[in-house]
Amino acid sequence: MNFGLMGPGVIAEKFANACQSCEGVTLLGVASSKKERAQAFAEKHGLKKVYASYEELLADPEIDAVYISVIHTGHFPLAKKCIEAGKAVLCEKPLTSSYTDTMELIRLASERKVLLMEAMWMVFLPSVQKALEWIRKGAAGTPEYMTCNFSNFCERDPKGRLFDPAQAGGGLLDVGVYCLDFLLEAAGKEPEKIQSLLRIGPTGVDEMGTVAFRFPGGLLAECAFGLRARLDNNGYIFCDNGKIVLRDFWQCRKAELYDKQGNLLESVEDDQQNGFVYEIRAFCQSFEKGEKECPQMPFHKTATAARIMDEILENGK
Ligand SMILES: NC(=O)c1ccc[n+]([C@@H]2O[C@H](COP(=O)([O-])OP(=O)(O)OC[C@H]3O[C@@H](n4cnc5c(N)ncnc54)[C@H](OP(=O)(O)O)[C@@H]3O)[C@@H](O)[C@H]2O)c1
Repeated sequence: MNFGLMGPGVIAEKFANACQSCEGVTLLGVASSKKERAQAFAEKHGLKKVYASYEELLADPEIDAVYISVIHTGHFPLAKKCIEAGKAVLCEKPLTSSYTDTMELIRLASERKVLLMEAMWMVFLPSVQKALEWIRKGAAGTPEYMTCNFSNFCERDPKGRLFDPAQAGGGLLDVGVYCLDFLLEAAGKEPEKIQSLLRIGPTGVDEMGTVAFRFPGGLLAECAFGLRARLDNNGYIFCDNGKIVLRDFWQCRKAELYDKQGNLLESVEDDQQNGFVYEIRAFCQSFEKGEKECPQMPFHKTATAARIMDEILENGK
């Protein structure tokens, strides 16, 4: 499978490195709005092709799929172009910056029968999968309360993508999306009630946020996310007979199962250094099978998170 990459920035490095560990996957070429940037990236990673524009990449019949790693606001227009060109799309999170745009991409991909997936790599991690298996099997009993948080401290740079409203900055779209997806995966259903609070900072974006959820059946959950606090970034599922702990849940390499006395019953660790390999393999499998959505990250998950993020941005201010 030949990938083309659009947006050779920070996270694109990790994707390019992961491709090296995925059998049958070649990162064939790269396009950027600045050709010199694409050139430098191609040299660093030994890529065969450098395109003069995104359009040139899309016109290459050798390209099967495109990985989009531009900033959030570029996801929608580029993904739309890719789908229209008939290329499969693996697009960085969040798929778009709004529910409306997300639904438009899903509609278009369905209509054109093109594989589209939000690159929510967390759900493919083996330790996250293990934790979900423990929940489904009731290994710690019935979940009663879940919590997770994700925030690293970032300097306020009004021109940088994280703090600039024009670049869809803010903690929710950048890291809060992981919290939402984690809680939705763990609950296995959509919440019936959500209450949110955001702190809008001096540059006009949500710098810190906290959200509480109630799921049908009574399961409660909360999360905190943002750009200014150093949180521990762990995820916890507290059950009536024990608990499940995911260290650094969004890039989890260690999940632990405890009984009600706090004894460790089981622990799984993943020694894979680059967790992107799992999502890439799953995406490629779907492509090979001719699937138009990936079973582990189907459209409804992306759409639900997008709808809830719109709601939080509307009601949390
Ligand atoms: N999965 C993960 O763990 C993870 C981690 C970090 C980020 N991400 C996601 O990846 C995406 C990119 O994040 P990043 O940190 O890699 O971004 P970045 O390095 O700041 O920029 C990536 C690319 O976006 C385009 N870009 C940058 N600034 C721009 C601007 N002001 N106007 C228009 N385009 C601009 C450029 O593409 P061109 O070179 O084509 O011009 C750049 O190469 C984000 O959507 C983010 O959510 C995911």
